[in-house]
Amino acid sequence: MKIFIDTANLDMIKEINSWGILDGVTTNPSLVAKENTDTPTHVKEIAKILGDRPVSAEVMALDADGMIAEGKKLAAIAPNVNVKLPMCIESLKATKALSSEGIAVNMTLIFDPLQALMAAKAGARFVSPFIGRLDDIGTHGVDMLSETVQIIHQYGFDTEIIAASIRHPTHVLDAAEMGCDIATIPYDILKKMVAHPKTEEGIAKFKADYEKVNGPGQ
Ligand code: E4P
Repeated sequence: MKIFIDTANLDMIKEINSWGILDGVTTNPSLVAKENTDTPTHVKEIAKILGDRPVSAEVMALDADGMIAEGKKLAAIAPNVNVKLPMCIESLKATKALSSEGIAVNMTLIFDPLQALMAAKAGARFVSPFIGRLDDIGTHGVDMLSETVQIIHQYGFDTEIIAASIRHPTHVLDAAEMGCDIATIPYDILKKMVAHPKTEEGIAKFKADYEKVNGPGQ
């Protein structure tokens, strides 16, 4: 499974990039707003760090022509920038137009497998089902993701599914178990995915045993 980070924070992106596990970045207007810079400049910085790995940047227009115009501007920032569109009829039209010009679209705010199917049909390169926000309203987000994976994979669309709105490591585990293509994960959850108390305990014991015979190690 590919691992993306869900943030616009440059320090977090650089840190996770240094781990050697990062396959891409997703941003959204709320995440970029936290960084207090203008979107194009910021997206350019992120795209530079990522090299040829994908970075999603979201349009604000809500009509197809506006989405296409804004999407082209975002895609022109760097070759690895893809255009995030919020799921609706207008964005289906814009997806068709942008993808037929070779511009990759990430259809976001997906809460139903049929929305993902429609986005894939229109040519979306990525679809982003939001798990956590469904959990927030008492619906099993993971079930929706699982149905989406089953449908999109069984028809062999050239569309990758990004498990989004991830709230805890178990969401990532569920996504990996069901064969979801990508998970976009917040920084604090990526850190939790590395830590385990038994690992810490094991490291401390090995160190103590080594030092009993060899004296203080490095
Ligand atoms: C995905 O691309 C979105 O940026 C993100 O996963 C939204 O998650 P949230 O529900 O935590 O805001």
